[in-house]
Amino acid sequence: MEETRRLPVHVSIIMDGNGRWAKERGKERVYGHFEGVESVRACTEAAVETGVKYLSLFAFSEENWGRPDQEVNTLMELMFKSMQNELPTFLKNDIRFVVLGNRARLSDKLNAGIDDLMARTASCSRLTLIVFLSYSGKWDILQAARKMAEAGADDLEPFLVTAGFPDPDFIIRTSGEQRLSNFLLWQGAYSEFYFTDILWPDFRKDAFREALAEYARRDRRYGKVK
Ligand code: IPE
Ligand code: IPE
Ligand code: MG
Repeated sequence: MEETRRLPVHVSIIMDGNGRWAKERGKERVYGHFEGVESVRACTEAAVETGVKYLSLFAFSEENWGRPDQEVNTLMELMFKSMQNELPTFLKNDIRFVVLGNRARLSDKLNAGIDDLMARTASCSRLTLIVFLSYSGKWDILQAARKMAEAGADDLEPFLVTAGFPDPDFIIRTSGEQRLSNFLLWQGAYSEFYFTDILWPDFRKDAFREALAEYARRDRRYGKVK
């Protein structure tokens, strides 16, 4: 098999372990979130360098709203600031930025920032960077089912928030947890999974490349016989 076929088109990451990373250093959990932004930068760069076309990141789940207010507020503020900071990098590297999730739960300020960044990077095509915010797989399936019924259609996929984007070939989860935590339940039906003990703030370029090397060794059969 030639090398390009061994490269996942869409890599998705459940970025976990920020709180533990901070705790190990005797710091507040939010400190881990700040450092996690550096890993987002590193992995985005690595995706561009390796030729991955879609990188998606699970940044905040519907269930994460249940965390203490202070942590939720800091995370939302961090999303807003990071997005503002990244515009020049996105344009320079031809990166299209997309946010998917239950946008109705986000603040007007954050939604305006997201709309602006999505519009400004809409014609970029080297890498599509998808950030899942206020997302859960069950919520996605439910909202799609409602729309499907309303439209009298019989295919769910066009109504999922991920419509138009390829399913993730490879789902990475950091921090040693081996679960989906309500991430891409439908879209992950045939994804390859990769679990690493590395905490998200320590997951940088080398770790990303190592994960891709493991993907290249996988044999995907989709229920068929080869
Ligand atoms: C991942 O790190 C970031 C989010 C879920 C927002 P955590 O905050 O879950 O860190 P741990 O899992 O408690 O270490
Ligand atoms: C999953 O991490 C959600 C994100 C990475 C955004 P969590 O830390 O919320 O998941 P659980 O609680 O360990 O399952
Ligand atoms: Mg966690």
